[in-house]
Amino acid sequence: MSDEVIAIASDHGGYDLKEILKTELEHLGYAILDLGCYNKDSVDYPDYADKMAAALLNKSAERGVLICGSGIGISIAANRHRHVRAALVHDGLTSQLSRHHNNANVIVLGGRTTGVDVAKDCLKIFLETDFDGGRHQRRIELMS
Ligand code: RB5
Repeated sequence: MSDEVIAIASDHGGYDLKEILKTELEHLGYAILDLGCYNKDSVDYPDYADKMAAALLNKSAERGVLICGSGIGISIAANRHRHVRAALVHDGLTSQLSRHHNNANVIVLGGRTTGVDVAKDCLKIFLETDFDGGRHQRRIELMS
């Protein structure tokens, strides 16, 4: 169990996976802040990246999950905000490295490109892996 709030948001291309990962977050014991979208009507992924950035900035959540069809558009949009380190991951190793080396505060997944079991695995690893700090901290500071 954890009292950490995890924000989650997607466009229509990530909606189905968002709903599945909300259930997974509940199983893992996290509180959830669902920033939408709330159905499969077509929407624009930059709006949901901006909602995530705002939630992290105002400290409604410390970390988040973003999903679009490929994960690409929403990660590009999220990383336009300097306080966001959004990592598009495709497997357990990239998820682990996003935390160890990059202190990613947002995991990004592709709803149309990553299978459900792999996505759940990536999410659990992201949530449970600590930042290594050290030389990686200096590099992060160069971006903030
Ligand atoms: C929406 O059709 C799709 O373009 C979007 O979900 C995402 O894949 C963009 O990068």
